[in-house]
Amino acid sequence: MDTLEAARQRSAELEELIVKDPSQFRVLTGDRPTGPLHLGHYFGSLRNRVRLQDAGAEVFVLVADYQVLTDRANDSQSASRLDEYVTGLVLDYLAIGIDPARSVIFAHSAVPALNQLLLPFLSLVTVPELTRNPTVKDEIVHSRQAAVSGLMLTYPVHQAADILFGKSNLVPVGQDQLPHLEVTRVVARRFNERYGPVFPVPDALLSDTPLLLGTDGGKMSKSRDNSIPLSASAEDTARIIRTAKTDSEREIGYDPRRRPEVSNLVLMASLCLGRPPQEMAASLRGRGAAGLKQVLTEAVNDLLTPIRARRAELAADLGYVRSVLRAGNQRAGEIAGRTLAEVRAAMGMDY
Ligand code: TRP
Repeated sequence: MDTLEAARQRSAELEELIVKDPSQFRVLTGDRPTGPLHLGHYFGSLRNRVRLQDAGAEVFVLVADYQVLTDRANDSQSASRLDEYVTGLVLDYLAIGIDPARSVIFAHSAVPALNQLLLPFLSLVTVPELTRNPTVKDEIVHSRQAAVSGLMLTYPVHQAADILFGKSNLVPVGQDQLPHLEVTRVVARRFNERYGPVFPVPDALLSDTPLLLGTDGGKMSKSRDNSIPLSASAEDTARIIRTAKTDSEREIGYDPRRRPEVSNLVLMASLCLGRPPQEMAASLRGRGAAGLKQVLTEAVNDLLTPIRARRAELAADLGYVRSVLRAGNQRAGEIAGRTLAEVRAAMGMDY
């Protein structure tokens, strides 16, 4: 059985355990602040976080600002707009329903004890293990950096610190993050073997939502202008959908392999409306691409209208948004401090 299939099966088991006893889970997820969150994030992971929170799991949401440094040479925009993007992420989290009274929103750069875990963790992985990480390899191919930085190779270990500082045991991720989660599991196991039991070995929780493509048919990406940001206006949404790529067949259908662009728009509408994509396509029979785009625009705007309204309300009080992040940083700092003390004691460094 391949690792993806194994992760899928394990995720199905975990879903049952979440229903039975959500309080046994501490969840950590996060995003790089490199641009506004979009509809792909919403269906792929954001709504899942709210579901876990509302089910009663303890949820930590990480603004992975240090991780932006891995691609900074590639993307100077993210560097100069970091503050704006960080604030935007927090606004998005709050607007979709992450509740700071129950969940912790924090930025890892603001949690010194978390970052200090990186040192012992780096000693637990080998250079060949770091260089064969397929997601890192892929990022190296796509980055235009002249040479690979040390952070590019080691950020998956930093990610282990993100997860393990709070002893999180459940990490909702997309498929591309599975190799990173494997690094975390290796670090946790090796630490426990060498120094005694301190860390849980966390599980990945894969979302069963099929991947949304961008409106150009390529990978949906914060930086490619092919996505619908949660914060976009209704007019912008209509414009983005109007310019979305379709094909020359007259009938709408759902056939992702043969007609990826049209099928993707059908899928987007079906996710917004909570209907199976085949049924969605059937309901559009005889209406063509223009009809599909009209239905999709309405569906997206209906879904996002309350989220945008809440976001606008929050954006009018940035002092509050800051205070949420500060309180989250502080709470994460307390937890990380306790874990670091335990780690140092386990390593015989508690002088
Ligand atoms: N690498 C993730 C991304 O690019 C963000 C991230 C950082 C993360 N640390 C994490 C995700 C820990 C899950 C767990 O989206």
